[in-house]
Amino acid sequence: MSVKQSTTSRDLALQLAEISGDADVSPGIPPACYADDGLVPVERGAIFRDGWIGLGLADRWRAAGDYSAFDLAGVPVIVVRDRAGELRAYANSCRHRGSALLAGNGNCKRIKCPFHWWTYDLDGRLKIYPRMENARNFDPADYGLVEFPLACRHGLAFVSLAPQTPSIDDWLGDFDRWHAPWRLDDLVATRVREFTVDCNWKTFLEVFNEYYHLPAVHPDSISWMYPEPDPIDDSSGAFATQFGETTAASALLEDSQAAALPVAAGLDGRLRLGTRYTWIFPNLTFAASQDSLWMYSALPLAADRCSVTQTVAFPAASLELDDFDVRTEHYYQRIDAALAEDLPFLLEQQRGLDSPFAQPGRFGRLEPSVARFAAWYAPRLLAGLDTAARQA
Ligand code: FES
Ligand SMILES: [Fe+2]
Repeated sequence: MSVKQSTTSRDLALQLAEISGDADVSPGIPPACYADDGLVPVERGAIFRDGWIGLGLADRWRAAGDYSAFDLAGVPVIVVRDRAGELRAYANSCRHRGSALLAGNGNCKRIKCPFHWWTYDLDGRLKIYPRMENARNFDPADYGLVEFPLACRHGLAFVSLAPQTPSIDDWLGDFDRWHAPWRLDDLVATRVREFTVDCNWKTFLEVFNEYYHLPAVHPDSISWMYPEPDPIDDSSGAFATQFGETTAASALLEDSQAAALPVAAGLDGRLRLGTRYTWIFPNLTFAASQDSLWMYSALPLAADRCSVTQTVAFPAASLELDDFDVRTEHYYQRIDAALAEDLPFLLEQQRGLDSPFAQPGRFGRLEPSVARFAAWYAPRLLAGLDTAARQA
């Protein structure tokens, strides 16, 4: 895709500078940020290599050797649980001649390069390096995997690819204040699915975080159980969060309500029938309802293509129920049904955003989390554009 003809970098900078924290007056993120492949490297630096990236529920990697290979905005990364029980993140690049070491998800005893079999322990140390007797001044201790800071908070895992990693607690601000009742660190991930979508990563996350589209996109499936939510919470930190009561178990379709699992321990009052939608910037979002959690991570592959990981999780106590597996099928069905309804709209949105004549929009009152993300994103991208201009 070519650079959008109607948007010069000066126009783009001016449009980004107009975005403010006041959703009632702020314009939206410029369409070029969703459509211009020329901005992907800027975004990689300014958004994905200058802070924390959400990896998902740490519970996904339960046993020593459980791993996943990620493409984190152009950086191949391995996440693996080591023998001491620590979750660790490494560059997925062999220290011999650079091959990627692992792909997909699985369990390994050691990390063995498929190319010439250099093999690393789960703690990153190089342990096996066949036929290297010739190499002088070769100390294997100097050839361990490149490691990235990884932090676990509230049951969630985060990695930093930043040259200077900010404090994770500063990054998450008062996250605990809004999320403590849901006991995220007690959740067990029961289904993880990965797929790609032909839309910008931001639009995928935006649609999950606004009630505005419900009547048009989900008229017969889920819209009926979502009355108007509470106002967005006045939180601090790199996230937006909003609670709304629901008229039924929001993680189930109407004809599956009888399958509802027990309300999670820790939830009282109006939290016992409602859903908290949270977007941890830049890439991780989830809905925590009274009985379950569903989560999406969206990462850029190109301006108009993203990789998505969907995770569904339940409180540990619910897994003890005899009919847990039968009941959870209904949860998966609802989540898949809503996603299947969102996807065609995301593709149409991308088609419109790809036009050289697309323009920044405005925010309705049912999309405050989308506005808050824009206010977080715009100054960062602007700084990234400045850096790119200086380096040009
Ligand atoms: S590139 Fe990994 S062992 Fe050669
Ligand atoms: Fe939706």
